[in-house]
Amino acid sequence: MLSRANGYNSCMLHPQDHSAFADTLLDWFEHNSRPLPWRVDYHPYHVWISEIMLQQTQMERGVDYFQRWTEQLPDIASVAAASEDTVLKLWEGLGYYSRVRNLHKAARLIMERHGGVFPEDLAAIRDLPGIGEYTAGAIASIAFGQDVVCVDANVERVIARMYDIDTPVKQNMPFIRSTAQALLPSGRAREFNQAMMELGALVCSKKAHCASCPVQQWCEANHLGIVHERPVPVPRKPIQHLDVATGVLVHEGRIFIQKRPEHGVWAGFWEFPGGCVEAGEAPHETVIREYMEEMEFPVVSEGKIAVINHGYTTYRVSLHCYFLRLADADPTPVLHAATEYRWVRFEELDNYTLPAGHRKLADHLATDMRLTALLQEPRR
Ligand code: ADE
Repeated sequence: MLSRANGYNSCMLHPQDHSAFADTLLDWFEHNSRPLPWRVDYHPYHVWISEIMLQQTQMERGVDYFQRWTEQLPDIASVAAASEDTVLKLWEGLGYYSRVRNLHKAARLIMERHGGVFPEDLAAIRDLPGIGEYTAGAIASIAFGQDVVCVDANVERVIARMYDIDTPVKQNMPFIRSTAQALLPSGRAREFNQAMMELGALVCSKKAHCASCPVQQWCEANHLGIVHERPVPVPRKPIQHLDVATGVLVHEGRIFIQKRPEHGVWAGFWEFPGGCVEAGEAPHETVIREYMEEMEFPVVSEGKIAVINHGYTTYRVSLHCYFLRLADADPTPVLHAATEYRWVRFEELDNYTLPAGHRKLADHLATDMRLTALLQEPRR
């Protein structure tokens, strides 16, 4: 094992082999790269959208979202002109919704500051909302061919193995970035950066496929037989668990939804109202309390629908879901925790962007015959 204090002197890949390494990797990429839609013309708009989407999803899903997005919003001007509801709906299910809000803001800034043309200058790219060091490097190199690196988790893993880095990658970023830069052949950044990421995704994946690796001869961890020990993992924080209760209020064939405020958790999303189960409270009591606090609606439970479990990055939620009806006949809410409300038909729920757990609930409701019965109930 190498000591970092030694400056990685004894690795397999010596500076005199950098160009052989790059040539081998580029040749592999030419014959093994996936045919991705943004690789057709490398238009900056397409590269930008793909990079933001791929930060939070696997390639196959990313491609589906990309295609749906670009069919509806074919260029920067159309993103800038779109409503927040439209962009949120196209992003629904990808998570990290601040990314799509920033993308929306950035499109409007590109219209204002750059006449609708994606800027080429690295500092100008970096200045756009939602674009950090990685994304700026990816756009500058992949869309514009500039000699800058972009280091994502795939590249980190490749370099951690090649140089047998024996501490977590986040403690070694200056080394990893300068190594990626040193390996980059001038004028080939578009292909080389993608080749490093592609190698990490397809071959040097978490479960490595060293037998089919084109550059294994230069990999220190492979040489030492410890590829599975690299990168060194970071100790994980325990995942928090949250109990939340929510209610599907049915009245005269329609369901109540409300739109969350512009700031805070799930900002701008539509939801079935509800909230966290407090200490000493049963979930059905929570939902009755929340309906009174948030809308001044007196409601009665019509039975439990399901408990829906959903995992987010740092916590897990058990969503206790209930059918509800109004205890008196007035269907007009007094909104305290929302900006708008609607009484919608079940089929119309598809047109609204819902938090992930609520979307699962809506999907569940599609096959719950009790909802059909409640929706058909005559006036009381
Ligand atoms: N991950 C993010 N962007 C990528 C790209 N252009 N090629 C391969 N993997 C990627």
